[in-house]
Amino acid sequence: MAVTIAGTGSYVPEKILTNEELAEKVDTSNEWIVTRTGIKERRIAAEGEFTSHLATKAAERALEQAGLAAADVELIIVATITPDTLTPATACYVQRNLGAAKAVAFDISAACSGFLYAMKMAKRLIEADAFKNAVIIGAEKLSAFVNWEDRTTCVLFGDGAGAAVLRRAEPGEGRILATEMGTDGNQTHLLNIPGGGSACPITIDNANDHLATLAMLGKEVFKHAVTRMKEAAEKVIERSGLQPEDIACVIPHQANLRIIDAIADRLAVPNERVFVNLDKYGNTSAAAVAIALDEANRTGAFKRGDNIVLVVFGAGLTWAAAAVQW
Ligand code: ACO
Repeated sequence: MAVTIAGTGSYVPEKILTNEELAEKVDTSNEWIVTRTGIKERRIAAEGEFTSHLATKAAERALEQAGLAAADVELIIVATITPDTLTPATACYVQRNLGAAKAVAFDISAACSGFLYAMKMAKRLIEADAFKNAVIIGAEKLSAFVNWEDRTTCVLFGDGAGAAVLRRAEPGEGRILATEMGTDGNQTHLLNIPGGGSACPITIDNANDHLATLAMLGKEVFKHAVTRMKEAAEKVIERSGLQPEDIACVIPHQANLRIIDAIADRLAVPNERVFVNLDKYGNTSAAAVAIALDEANRTGAFKRGDNIVLVVFGAGLTWAAAAVQW
């Protein structure tokens, strides 16, 4: 049984935070941020706007494009590292908000790779006939987990959500051709939120130590990102029987333009066929590739019948890729 992506959707908060505004708060500059990352601005959720709100809006748009009623949704997977609450899962709030009463809903935590982890899981569950359809969502309110005094991280991240509706493919429809996932738990120290879990609860004594915020050894992460994303993309391209010239669009994780350029170069795909929107949103972790997929879809970066490749990398370390015939 083939599984198709029947619709995509995304949502970003209204508030824009520019590099210039950040330069007023920490010792940085627009020039440093643009040259080192490609990011020009990012979106910041309002105080009462949580990850589940962003996720719900993205899912509503994907359902509308897919022509699927919320009441008929059978599975909701939210990929996030910034849940509304430690429990219940953010997916439960989304299920309630959508009115998708029939759907089974749960979260997965695979950082920036979460949306493609969710895609593989949903695809396999639909193929196994456990569910007829699924809404997969990457959603983050990273602004709530950033140390706004740390210039090495606060300039990188933003808030947003992207979603896709997966269901059995009808004859003649596009399909997910191949998926790949990987994990290296020996590198957990390179990128993490050290506090707020059972290993390091936030207490009165450490409340001011910024432990519940993202910490990253950027240079190390960079090297792993290029190698792992290249390998994962190559695997799905090979398994799909594609050549670089058959790929209409590569949609990579949106963390750093230099990483994206290095991957395009190593895959021998020209830059004009690589979708980039990190200049507008920064790194939105699990949401990034999902927002990019939706924007690429809605702006005609590829058309029905085209082959596209999605590839991601994040904390864990985790990585994943998917080849899709649209
Ligand atoms: N403004 C000005 N200077 C800065 C800033 C800043 N915002 N941040 C760091 N610097 C300084 C550093 O202090 C350093 O100064 P020094 O040479 O005097 O020590 C200098 O700039 C260079 O710093 P590096 O960390 O070496 O800069 P680099 O070129 O590696 O860029 C970056 C840093 C952008 C973080 C890059 O390493 C990167 O993108 N890494 C990968 C990120 C990624 O892919 N993450 C995975 C997904 S995220 C997730 O899963 C949640």
